[in-house]
Amino acid sequence: MSRIPTPSSRLVCVRGCRGQFPITDGRYHCPDCGGLLDVEHDLDALRRVTGDEWRTLFRDRAAEATWPYSSGVWSKKEWVLPEIEAENIVSLGEGRTPLLFAERLGQSLGLEDLWVKQSGTSHSGSFKDLGMTALISVVKQRAADGQTVRAVACASSGDTSAALASYGAAAGFPTIVLLPKDRISQAQLAQPLACGAIVLAVDTDFDGCMKIVRDLAEDPSIYLANSMNALRLEGQKTVAVEIVEQLSWEPPDWIILPCGNLGNISAIAKGFVLMRTLGLIDRLPRIAAAQAENANPLYRSYLSGFRDFEPVTAAPTLASAIQIGNPVSYERAVRALAELDGVVVQAGESALSDASARADSCGLYTCPQTGVALAGLTKLLADGTVRRNERVVVIATAHGLKFTPFKMSDPSSAHPFASSRFANRPTEVGFDSSVIQRVIRDRLTRHSNEGPAPGGKPWQRRPPSQADALDNRAPS
Ligand SMILES: Cc1ncc(COP(=O)(O)O)c(C=O)c1O
Ligand SMILES: [Zn+2]
Repeated sequence: MSRIPTPSSRLVCVRGCRGQFPITDGRYHCPDCGGLLDVEHDLDALRRVTGDEWRTLFRDRAAEATWPYSSGVWSKKEWVLPEIEAENIVSLGEGRTPLLFAERLGQSLGLEDLWVKQSGTSHSGSFKDLGMTALISVVKQRAADGQTVRAVACASSGDTSAALASYGAAAGFPTIVLLPKDRISQAQLAQPLACGAIVLAVDTDFDGCMKIVRDLAEDPSIYLANSMNALRLEGQKTVAVEIVEQLSWEPPDWIILPCGNLGNISAIAKGFVLMRTLGLIDRLPRIAAAQAENANPLYRSYLSGFRDFEPVTAAPTLASAIQIGNPVSYERAVRALAELDGVVVQAGESALSDASARADSCGLYTCPQTGVALAGLTKLLADGTVRRNERVVVIATAHGLKFTPFKMSDPSSAHPFASSRFANRPTEVGFDSSVIQRVIRDRLTRHSNEGPAPGGKPWQRRPPSQADALDNRAPS
C-alpha cells in the first residue's frame, strides 16, 4: 500500500468565495458573503492512495478495532478531520451501526431489496453522534491549543442536545442546550438533563431556539454545535461510507431519509461524492429527502424547481425532531439533491404513523422521523419513481425507544398511530386462565386467517444480492 498521506482540511465558503480558514477557527460563516462554510479536503493527497487501498485500510481497521479506529467515524480519520491529534479525539463508540436487510417490510411494500441503516443504534440513540464526535474533538483540540472554551451550545429538536450533552460531558466541557418547551419527548429531555447540561426550555419553536443560539455564539468563548457548523457534517458523512462498505462496496440505487435542518442529507451526499472521487465507487445512488407535511419548506421549494425558498412556521408534527421551518443547510441540501439526482417527498401524520407501525410489525422499532422516510418510500413506489427491483436503503435516524408516547397513544384519542391498521395494543384479561387461553386462541386464529401479515412468508432468506456469497465461499 502507498504510504497513507497526512492530508489537510480547511473551512471554505459553500458559495465559492476565496477565503480559507483553519478547521479550529470558531467561524461558521463566510466573511465575504455570509454563506455557510464547508470542510474542504486536500484531494490530491487523498488520491495518492488507490480506491482498493482505502477499502483494504478500512477493512483492516474494522478488524483490529484499536483506538481511535474502533469508531466508525475515526476509522475514516483521513477523510474526516485529519489534523485532529489522537489524544484529542472524544469518541463514544459511534458508527458501525447495523444495516438490516428488511425482508418482510420489503415484501409488505412490494420491494425486493430493502435495507434499513439503523443509525439510531448508537450511544445517544441517533445519528447525531456521528457529527458530535467530530465537533467535540475539535473543541478539545482548540482547548489544547490554548483557546478559551467556556461552553458548547446548541439549539435542538431533541437529538442534537442528547448527543452534545453526552460528548461534552465525556470531554468535561460545559454544555448549553436550548429546547423548544413542551415539544420534545420526555426521553429526549431526560438525556441532556442526565448528562448535566444547562437545559433551557424556551417558549418558542426550534427555529426560535436557533435564533437565540446564534446570538449566544457571537461570544467567541461559546462554541456553536449546530449543523450550521460544518464540522458535524464531516462525521455524519461517514454513514455513506459504512453503507457502501456493508453492501460489499456496491452503492444502492436509492437512499431515503427524513429531513429537517438539512444537514444530514448534505453530509451523506458529500460522503458519496467523495467515494466516487477517490475511486471507491463508480456511480452515485439517487437520494430522496422526506419531510413531514407540517414542516415542509424544502418540499415547497422543490415544487418550484428550487427557484424560491420561503421559510415556513412549522406546525406540530408527530415527527417532532424534524419540526423545522427555516432549515439552516438549505443551500447545501439543494446542491446535494442536484449531485445525487434527488427528489423530495412529504408525508402527512397518518401516512407517517402507518408507515412506522407497519415497519414495527415487521420487527423494526422505528422513530416517527423514520416513519416519514418510509411513508415517502411508499409514495415513490406508488408513482413509479422507485422501481420494485431497485435496491433501497432507508436511514432510520433515531431509536424508537426515544418516542414511546408516539407508540403508546390511547386508541380512543384518534391519534394517527393508534388508528393505524398495523397498531397493536394490550388485551386486558383479568386473572382467569381459561379466558387467557381463549384470547390467545382467537388471536392466533386471526393471525393464521390473515396470513403472516404483513410481510408474507415467515422465514428469512438471504438478501438477493448476497444469495450466492456463502455458497461461493464454501471450499470446493
Ligand atoms: C431523528 C432525526 N431524524 C432526522 C433529523 C433531520 O436531520 P437534519 O436536521 O440534518 O435534516 C433529525 C434532526 O433534525 C433527527 O433528530
Ligand atoms: Zn462566501
